[in-house]
Amino acid sequence: MTDVSLVDIELSQRARDRVDAVLESGYLADGPEVRRFEEAFADYCGVTHAVGTSNGTTALVAALEALGLGDGDAVITSPFSFVASANAIRHAGGTPVFADIDPETYALDPESVESVLDRRSDVVGLLPVHLYGLPAAMPTLLDIADRENLFVLEDACQSHGASVNGTRVGALGDAGCFSFYPTKNMTTGEGGMITTDDEGIAERAAAYINHGRRADGNGSYSHAELGHNHRMTSVAAAIGRVQLERLPEFTAARRANAQWYDDHLNELPVETPTVPRGRRHVYHQYTIRVDDRDALRETLSAREIGTGIYYPTPIHRQPAYESLSTAVADRPHAERAAASVLSLPVHPNLTPPEREAVVAAIAAHYDSAADHGREDHDTGHEQNPGNAHAHAHAHDSKPDHEYDSP
Ligand SMILES: Cc1ncc(COP(=O)(O)O)c(C=O)c1O
Repeated sequence: MTDVSLVDIELSQRARDRVDAVLESGYLADGPEVRRFEEAFADYCGVTHAVGTSNGTTALVAALEALGLGDGDAVITSPFSFVASANAIRHAGGTPVFADIDPETYALDPESVESVLDRRSDVVGLLPVHLYGLPAAMPTLLDIADRENLFVLEDACQSHGASVNGTRVGALGDAGCFSFYPTKNMTTGEGGMITTDDEGIAERAAAYINHGRRADGNGSYSHAELGHNHRMTSVAAAIGRVQLERLPEFTAARRANAQWYDDHLNELPVETPTVPRGRRHVYHQYTIRVDDRDALRETLSAREIGTGIYYPTPIHRQPAYESLSTAVADRPHAERAAASVLSLPVHPNLTPPEREAVVAAIAAHYDSAADHGREDHDTGHEQNPGNAHAHAHAHDSKPDHEYDSP
């Protein structure tokens, strides 16, 4: 029996030491450590400003507020994402409108965005999601936004360090938002970041996450606008600074695992990830697509191999979205993806024997399906790949780690 977990989080002694130093300093909430992390993260993304937040969701809400989203304003986003992408639009007072995804990249399809824009005149912005670590079709989306005078807010929560033609995500649109949840490519426990080259956006976002406080020389209790408390803690920033230093090493390991899967899955009946020219994938998830997803997942689970389904229900099909008039339309590519995607372990600590076990289990699954097909053929029964593993040991199909990746 193997035991290959989908997620493996590791904090170095350096991170622990830096947390200790922060605890010693007495800054437990906001403080200089957060400023240092913001500076380092802005530098890493190639932008002039970064604002630390309590998580990726609050980063998105604050960025939308800073972009001036008005009540009821429509924002086009992807229905195939973690629900936070669309929830943030609603929390900021806007209306999410779902375009369909590109079936190859799982990201917002520019043609579908165009067809939404043909039908609606109330759209003020685009919120593309760089799903699984692969950037969306940013050059085309940015051209559309330019032409239509829309803002572009990148949901980069899953794509730290990904890039398009050499420019890192978070530096492509008007602003970008990141999550540092434990399953992400780098973590702070809970935490988020807004990146932007626009000083006004950075100032408004920083004020929003701090109850609208402005440094206006009038003392610290001047609240220019309504805001919230979505601040990052200094403890989170201490962990984040060390994780950011290690991000290139984490990314290289993820990309090496992904390359190995690409090379070793190509003979099997699975669709491996597509990476369009010019885009750098950082493999937050290595997601394959198969016809018999649930049966394959059961086979892997029986061999103690953790897998994930991101996401089994498109956002427009979620009960919380039933009341939205924009949620009812069909989004066939998102719906097909929800029924067929399966994410394999790709984390930086995955060992060669572990990834070999993953590929061996997938190969065995399809060998056995082929055997069943041959037997069925011999006896004149129709082949049903979906049932090929009905005999497999029933197993809890949830990954065994306590964190289920959003
Ligand atoms: C695509 C996407 N958007 C937004 C979020 C929200 O981030 P958080 O969980 O830090 O609030 C996440 C992850 O959790 C995500 O994967």
